[in-house]
Amino acid sequence: MGCGPGRNALYLASSGFQVDAVDLSPAAVAWAGDRAREAGADVRFRAGDAFGLVGDELGGPYDLIYDSGCFHHLPPHRRISYLDVLDRALAPGGHFALTCFAAGSTGSEASDGDFYRQSRLHGGLAYTPESLRWIFSDLTEIELRRMRDERSESPRFGEPFLWTALFRRD
Ligand SMILES: C[S@@+](CC[C@H](N)C(=O)[O-])C[C@H]1O[C@@H](n2cnc3c(N)ncnc32)[C@H](O)[C@@H]1O
Repeated sequence: MGCGPGRNALYLASSGFQVDAVDLSPAAVAWAGDRAREAGADVRFRAGDAFGLVGDELGGPYDLIYDSGCFHHLPPHRRISYLDVLDRALAPGGHFALTCFAAGSTGSEASDGDFYRQSRLHGGLAYTPESLRWIFSDLTEIELRRMRDERSESPRFGEPFLWTALFRRD
């Protein structure tokens, strides 16, 4: 969900996953497609709104739905449609993995009410572990922790201002 230029989609494909990857930005999807061709990776990229594609046009159900950095850019009311997408598209026993802004480090900590009073995302919404557990309470938490910091020369991405979480649908 919100695959951007395909970093995680390519990683998952190289690990043997059959991947559908969606992003609102046609430019990001075109870039991701170029990178996939260069890497010889077979990923089905789609430009469009994940809410209209995942679970509908793209089908599913998926064993894994991964969102790295999309959820925290959504206004609060879209959490309802987001949970609906998970409900329609995540297979029983499947996993949902999330990376998002951590309150206390980055992102807006305005309440949902203030968000609508100000009508601004301030670059993204920060979440506490409690708010994530509450939002995704229909799923079983496997792990929720700060992402480990990775040095710039590391082949992996890691920023400690982010939560990284894994949930399972029982
Ligand atoms: C911070 S970027 C993360 C990109 C990528 N996942 C990564 O980790 O490098 C967030 C992405 O979410 C996409 N996005 C935001 N809302 C979306 C939506 N409703 N449907 C699909 N993509 C969306 C944006 O276009 C953007 O590329």
